[in-house]
Amino acid sequence: MTDERWLEGMVAFVTGAGRGEDGGGGAGIARALARHGARVVVNDLTEEAVAATVTQIQQRGGEAWGIVGDVSNPRDAERMIDATVERFGQIDILVNNAALGGLVPAIERLPDDIWHRQVAVDLSGPFFMSRAALRHMIPRRFGRIVNIGSLAGIRTGFVSGAPYTTAKSGLIGLTRQMAAEFAPFGITVNVLLPTGIRNPAIMRRRPDLFQGNDRQLGPLDPEEEIGKLVAFLARRDVGFISGAAIPLDRGLGSALGNFVEYARRSGKDIG
Ligand SMILES: NC(=O)c1ccc[n+]([C@@H]2O[C@H](COP(=O)([O-])OP(=O)(O)OC[C@H]3O[C@@H](n4cnc5c(N)ncnc54)[C@H](O)[C@@H]3O)[C@@H](O)[C@H]2O)c1
Repeated sequence: MTDERWLEGMVAFVTGAGRGEDGGGGAGIARALARHGARVVVNDLTEEAVAATVTQIQQRGGEAWGIVGDVSNPRDAERMIDATVERFGQIDILVNNAALGGLVPAIERLPDDIWHRQVAVDLSGPFFMSRAALRHMIPRRFGRIVNIGSLAGIRTGFVSGAPYTTAKSGLIGLTRQMAAEFAPFGITVNVLLPTGIRNPAIMRRRPDLFQGNDRQLGPLDPEEEIGKLVAFLARRDVGFISGAAIPLDRGLGSALGNFVEYARRSGKDIG
């Protein structure tokens, strides 16, 4: 990726972007936006996680600022966006990346709290953050919102489960609603649908998913692949793509056979 400074003068907020080198999609997206010249606000749940990415970006010559908060809490969402505008005078780009995934029990055994928590973080979080950011974007007649969904939002997520799949599906609907509602205000809203991301935690836990000949599965590089597309969609002159749900899956979602194999390797009974 070239480091053209498309985003010079812009302020970007990336949720769930902590843990620096040990982070996943969010940290990679934050690094990519900084490389393209944006001032980046890094959000996560702990000071330690936030500081890791902020330090990494600063060491590479980028500008970053960290803020701790829970995206599923509407008061936290407003506080974090307002603090960003207070500090930088504006917010141009919001990337709703923070999410809870992971294996959960099958539906007939799924406890209420797991359902509510995942839907709160994965779907209500992007709503609360977008609502808070839009209040500042609308008067400026400019904004770029990129939601990080999942291929699970359009294909059943074998390795995830009902709340994740449902929330990521809902995120596509929220994206389209916002795209249509805010088109007259120069605000674009898109959702990316990745498959496997080169997340160090997942790679440590399930190295088998990222090895062998099964390269169609991924893994996607957080900075060079996902971050690159987010940075492109955030450009000022890319106002013509909005309401798009873009699979980042190397074609996997078009190939039922690979999904069956993926499910088998994940140890799930698919009948
Ligand atoms: N990992 C994959 O293979 C994969 C596949 C498809 C889609 N995705 C999606 O891509 C995005 C990035 O995934 P990733 O696995 O690379 O994760 P990531 O490393 O970007 O981690 C998510 C971060 O969100 C933070 N977080 C969790 N709850 C939060 C909350 N309530 N408020 C603020 N921060 C919170 C976590 O602490 C973590 O650092 C997610 O939206 C995920 O659903 C991931």
